Amino acid sequence: MTPLPKLQQIPAEIACVADYEPFARERMTPSAWAYLVGGAADESTLADNLAAFRRIRLQNRVLEDLRGGHTRLDLCGLALDYPILLAPVAFQRLAHPEGELATALGASAMGAAMVVSTQASVSLEAIAQAAQAPLWFQLYIQPDRDFTRDLVRRAEAAGYRALVVTVDAPVNGLRNREQRSGFALPDGVEAVNLKGMRGLPPSIAQPGSSPLFGSPLLEHAPTWKDLEWLQSITHLPVLVKGVMNPSDASRAVERGVAGILVSNHGGRTLDGLPATLDVLPAIARAVQGRVPLLLDGGIRRGSDVFKALALGASAVMIGRPYVFGLAAAGATGVAHVLHLLRTELEVTMALTGCPTLDAIEASLILGSS
Ligand SMILES: Cc1cc2nc3c(=O)[nH]c(=O)nc-3n(C[C@H](O)[C@H](O)[C@H](O)COP(=O)(O)O)c2cc1C
Repeated sequence: MTPLPKLQQIPAEIACVADYEPFARERMTPSAWAYLVGGAADESTLADNLAAFRRIRLQNRVLEDLRGGHTRLDLCGLALDYPILLAPVAFQRLAHPEGELATALGASAMGAAMVVSTQASVSLEAIAQAAQAPLWFQLYIQPDRDFTRDLVRRAEAAGYRALVVTVDAPVNGLRNREQRSGFALPDGVEAVNLKGMRGLPPSIAQPGSSPLFGSPLLEHAPTWKDLEWLQSITHLPVLVKGVMNPSDASRAVERGVAGILVSNHGGRTLDGLPATLDVLPAIARAVQGRVPLLLDGGIRRGSDVFKALALGASAVMIGRPYVFGLAAAGATGVAHVLHLLRTELEVTMALTGCPTLDAIEASLILGSS
């Protein structure tokens, strides 16, 4: 049995997610911090994810009957108490020595579902042993498809309840802040679940040749066919993560995906993409309720969760916010971040006259119908 991580104290004076940031920063190396908070290139998408939530205003409703209110929902076969999940974040041992084990414990304490990254720094089996809460596995389809199949089998055997295939990062974004910081994984932190995979043949850069096209990385980049292949080899529901274009959303629904995650990877892949909140209504129109829509990117308040739900999401995922909690206070910090956001969501619902998630609708966003 894997020993459970020790609980730590919550730093004083923390009233909201943003209050965690300085505590987290203090506990991480400058380059690990740059890896965590940075985005691609000029970070305009990263900034816009946050700004989009600030741009819109709520419409309240008074004197509604709030008795019997709750935030429960069913999502792809999971019965959840509230619509906030933990997004896949790689290498969490950069933030805290117990990494993903502490996150799993925090999620379990709060009954939140956790999506475990392919690039987790703890084995997917050990995380499953530590977790009481439901787990989904985030899959990067690897160039070695046999290895990918084995990874899927391992996730199934360990009890993961769905696969979230990330499709927006066939190559890493150019994360300049991270590059400038000289970030490299420290000894002892690695993508343990990918150990034993046949490496890519080294890309032989010929003088004058293209740096990326023709390289093994793009020759093996997953396509729609690989999505179908993945669906054919697993009995688990497959969700796609990283959809920003309504026509891609329609295509994914036509291929029978179990859900769509509207995401720009937290602004870490293609700088210049819009904020996720800004594309959500068009994607919701394309999907027409055929599958659940989730959104991530820029959620820092429970009222942000509310805004995403009002504009068409069934649930949201958070990335950096829980890692701030993890870095600052381990499992307790993760649980506390979830608690803060859940409480803020409930307060927002009460003050807008919404006893349940179903009551959250576009008319509660000023200027929307
Ligand atoms: C440090 C870091 C590592 C990440 N690693 C992964 C990953 O391994 N797989 C993945 O699909 N997304 C990854 N993401 C993206 C998150 O799942 C999520 O889309 C994003 O963090 C949401 O934005 P937010 O941080 O503003 O909440 C990562 C994000 C961060 C910040």
